[in-house]
Amino acid sequence: CGIFGYIGNKNCIPFIISGLEKLEYRGYDSAGMAYIRNDSVLEIKKVVGKVQNLKEILDFSDFSKVGIGHTRWATHGGISVENAHPHTDCKGNIVVVHNGIIENYKELKELLINKGHVFKSQTDTEVIPHLLEEMVDKEEIGLEEAVKELFKKLEGAFALLIMDKRNPNILYALRKQSPLIVGFGIGENFIASDIPALGDYTDRFYYLKDNQMAKISANEIKVYDMGVGKYIGVEPIRIPQDRIRAEKNGYPHFMLKEIFEQPLVVRRILSTVNKNRDELQIEDIKSIDISWEKIKKVFIVACGTSYHAGYYAKFLWEEELPYFIEVELASQMHHRNLRVPDETLFITISQSGETADVISTLRKVKEKGFKVLSLVNNPQSTVARESDYFINLRAGIEIGVAATKTFMAELVYLGLLKEYVKNKLYKVKIDLDKWNMLPTYLENYLSNIKDQVFETAKKYYQKKNFLYLARGRNFPLALEGALKLKEISYIHAEGIPAGEMKHGPIALLDPETPVFGIAYKDDAYSKMINNLEEAKARRAPIIAIGNEKDKKLENLVDDLIPVPNIDPFYYPYMGVMVLQLFAYYVADLLGREIDQPRNLAKSVTVE
Ligand code: G6P
Repeated sequence: CGIFGYIGNKNCIPFIISGLEKLEYRGYDSAGMAYIRNDSVLEIKKVVGKVQNLKEILDFSDFSKVGIGHTRWATHGGISVENAHPHTDCKGNIVVVHNGIIENYKELKELLINKGHVFKSQTDTEVIPHLLEEMVDKEEIGLEEAVKELFKKLEGAFALLIMDKRNPNILYALRKQSPLIVGFGIGENFIASDIPALGDYTDRFYYLKDNQMAKISANEIKVYDMGVGKYIGVEPIRIPQDRIRAEKNGYPHFMLKEIFEQPLVVRRILSTVNKNRDELQIEDIKSIDISWEKIKKVFIVACGTSYHAGYYAKFLWEEELPYFIEVELASQMHHRNLRVPDETLFITISQSGETADVISTLRKVKEKGFKVLSLVNNPQSTVARESDYFINLRAGIEIGVAATKTFMAELVYLGLLKEYVKNKLYKVKIDLDKWNMLPTYLENYLSNIKDQVFETAKKYYQKKNFLYLARGRNFPLALEGALKLKEISYIHAEGIPAGEMKHGPIALLDPETPVFGIAYKDDAYSKMINNLEEAKARRAPIIAIGNEKDKKLENLVDDLIPVPNIDPFYYPYMGVMVLQLFAYYVADLLGREIDQPRNLAKSVTVE
C-alpha cells in the first residue's frame, strides 16, 4: 500500500493527490484521503479503484493544511469503499492509514467490540483508531502516549499515519517493518511510503527505522525511538531530485522505458569496475570482506523476479566456483528447518529491499549467526541496512510493477560477483572486454529485434495459455518470461524445464497452446531440439529464441527470434529482453494496464 501525508500552510489536497499518484504502483485496489477542512471539519473521501476515481469525487475548493492519503493493496477485507483507508474511531476524531498487517487484530477487535466500539469495515487497520480512542477517552492518556503504546499493543508489520481532528497541527507516523520516509520542507513537511512521492517537494529525507515514531508539525519533525525510550536527534540525508524523479520520457509506459533503459543500467554498473585485470575491483563489491575460500555453501533467497535471478546465478556460479549452491523462495524459508554448514553465506536479492518474506529470512538467518550479502536497488531499504554486506544494484527507480531493468541489474551483478570471487580464489584474469561490450550489444540488439518481437506478439496475443520451455541455466529465464506474461497480460503461462514436459505438461499441448522455447546453441541445444520436436508433434505452435541462421531450428519452429552468432556469454541478457518485450507487446495489444497490473504490487510488505 502507499501512504502520503502533508502538514504545512498550503492546501494539502493537491499534494496528497499527486503523492498518491506516484505511489499507485504500490497498490491500486482503492484509494482514500482525510483532511481537516477549515481546521475543524474532518472530511474522509474513499473510492474503489484508482486515484483518478478519488480525484473525481473531491471538492478541490476545500482547504486544509493537513491531510493523509492511501492507496490500497487489499490483504484483510475485500475491495470496497468501507475497507478503503483512512479508517476512523467511533466519534470520528482519529483517522489512520496503514500499510502492513496487524496479526492480532481479531483479539483486539473482539475486545473493543465488547467495550462498545462499532466497526464499519472488515480490515485489520480499523482496530487502530478504535484502540487509540479507547486509550485517549477511557484511560485518559494523551494521544501521543497512546500512539507510542501501539508499538506494544500491535503485533505484525505496520507503517501508520495518524491524524486527530482535535489537533490539526500534528501528524504521527510510526514504522515497524513497513517503510516510511519523512520529507523535510520549509514551513511544511511530508511523509510517504516511498521517495518518488516526495521528490517534487524536497531533497532532504529521513528514513524512519523500526520502532520509531515521528511527530510532525509544519515546522518541526521530532523522532521518538522506542528502543532508546526518548526523542533522538536525526540528520536528514540529501538525495538530489534528478535521482528521484521518474518520467516516461515519451514512452507510452514506464515498463517500455525501463526495458530500453537496460543497456544504460549495464553501462552504469560496468563503470564501477576497475580495469586492472589482475585484481578485479568492483566499487560496490570491494568493501565486502568475505573469506571466500572458507565458504562451503552459498544459499540464495529471494522472491518473484529476484528469485529467478538467483536461480540463474546458481547455474552460473556452479560452473566455475567450488560451492554447493542452493536457491529458495523467501516465503518457503519460513517452513524450512535450516541444516547448513556454519560456513554458509546467505545471499538475498530484492529490488525493493522491503519484501517482507525476504526481511524475515534475513533476520532469521542473522539470528543464527550467518552472514548475509544482499543485492538491492534501494540503499536505504531495510534489507540493505540490515545485511552484513550489500551491493547497490544501481538500476535507478523502477516504476513498472513488473520488474525489468532491476532483473537485468541483478543478473549482471551476480555475474560480476562470480568473476570477482573467481579472481579472488584462483587469481585468474577476467575478460573485462567481454563485459564492456555488453551494453553496446544490448543497445543494438534491442533496436534490431523490437519490431520482430512486436510482429510475433501480434500473431499470438489472443492465445489463452503459453508454455515456456528451457533447460539448464536458461530455465530460470523461461520462468521469468512466463512470469512477465502472466503479470501484465493475465494470460496463463508456465515455465517448464523442457525435460519435464513429457512427465505431465505435454498433456496441455494442442494447436491453441503456443510453446515459447529458449534454444541457443549451447550445451543444452540438442536436447532442447528434441523437446521442441515433441511439442511440434502435438501440433503446438512454437516460438523460439535461438541462434540466427540456425537452419534446423528455423525449420522446426513457427517463429524464430534470433540472437546474433556471437559469444554465448551474451545470449541470456539478450534473450531476457526478448521475453520482456514479448510480454509487453502482448499486454499492450490486449489493452492491459501495463504499469499497474491488477492485484499486484511493486513492493510486497506483507508475508
Ligand atoms: C513483487 C513484485 C515483483 C517482484 C517481487 C519480489 O511481487 O511485483 O516484480 O519480483 O515482488 O520483489 P523484490 O523487491 O524483493 O525483488
